[in-house]
Amino acid sequence: DHPEQPVKFDPATGLWNVYGYPEAHQILSDPKTFSSDTQRLLPEKVAKNFEAFSEGNLVNMDPPEHGHLRKLVSHAFTPKVVADLEPRIAELAGELLDGVGDRMEMVTDLAYPLPVIVIAELLGVPASDRGLFREWVDAMLNNNVQFTLTDTDEMEKQTAVAVEQVGKLTEYLREHAAERRRKPREDLLTKLVEAEVEGSRLSENQVVNFANVLLIAGHITTTALLGNTVLCLDTNPEQYAKVRADRSLVPAAIEESLRYFSPFALVSRATTEEVELGGQTVPADQLMMLWLAAANRDPRQFTDPDTYDVTRPANPQIAFGRGIHFCLGAPLARLEGRVALNLLLDRFPHLRSDPDDGPTFVPSPSMTAVRRLPL
Ligand code: HEM
Repeated sequence: DHPEQPVKFDPATGLWNVYGYPEAHQILSDPKTFSSDTQRLLPEKVAKNFEAFSEGNLVNMDPPEHGHLRKLVSHAFTPKVVADLEPRIAELAGELLDGVGDRMEMVTDLAYPLPVIVIAELLGVPASDRGLFREWVDAMLNNNVQFTLTDTDEMEKQTAVAVEQVGKLTEYLREHAAERRRKPREDLLTKLVEAEVEGSRLSENQVVNFANVLLIAGHITTTALLGNTVLCLDTNPEQYAKVRADRSLVPAAIEESLRYFSPFALVSRATTEEVELGGQTVPADQLMMLWLAAANRDPRQFTDPDTYDVTRPANPQIAFGRGIHFCLGAPLARLEGRVALNLLLDRFPHLRSDPDDGPTFVPSPSMTAVRRLPL
């Protein structure tokens, strides 16, 4: 149910929860009042766990530094780079589905390996190491960090485990980045190592942490998008029939899945000054939990928000955020979604979920993601 109050302070955690669409829009459009540098509000012992990963982490940066780094990395991650990947994505998805008989498990067989192989190949790290990435990222997600400012011991314990897992990924990427400095190749990691804007280059930590963000953000969320979309269609047979009958609706099915089950359910911001939001006065230095997944179901913005409808006349969903931090990987995620869904529909005219073995979900509240979907 959508909460009556779009902005609510939670005394149990010390956090502000934001559920409304116009309020989310206001926050994401105003990086001056709502800073992405949220770590400064975390208790010191928790913040120190994140220190090693903040340099080069675009997601937590504010202007003007954010703009400089974003320009530098966008340079190496252009729309053309993404568009050129389409044939390779189709080939990979085809190969993955070649191994499938009359039963498959959507996540293991397609939704996990496809985006990981794509991002690994783009970066230039061996896709055969994807078992390792999955181990580290799964351990991070299973750890299920519950944000709270009131129980700092618990939060420190939980973030320490998550950070230990990210640390393994960082060390792995550090070795590969060092290798590219010695021996450049035709890959994104080399481009990042060599990228230059107005005479400045990325530091080693910036390269490694940015590659880290790409590898994590670039695969868990897209895995969720692919699995969630198939689940949405499976549970809404009328919509499924429409998409089968008219393939030009595939992109709309993906946009609607992003709205209905927003993979990256939560982003956070810190207020830099007192501000009016959703009829409330929020003081400075407050941690705002912005539930994109809830904003995307706000009845003030979307008619029948709890209905999955691929024929909505307009769908201004904000699952990729908006404003200066708008997801850098959105074109890639959309492309992978379109290619994978079309191929599934081509190959399996009777694709449906297993009535005796239903789906399970990732246990983290900050993700809306199918974890297992037998088909
Ligand atoms: C930022 C969601 C796929 C890389 C974001 C943000 C969201 C998001 C909500 C904004 C965070 C904020 O404002 O605090 C998603 C979803 C995806 C997806 C739902 C898939 C369905 C990807 C992919 C990549 C990627 C495939 C890279 C290959 C990034 C990066 C940022 C970002 C680098 C930071 C941009 C910035 O701060 O300027 N994403 N993402 N994402 N995403 Fe994605």
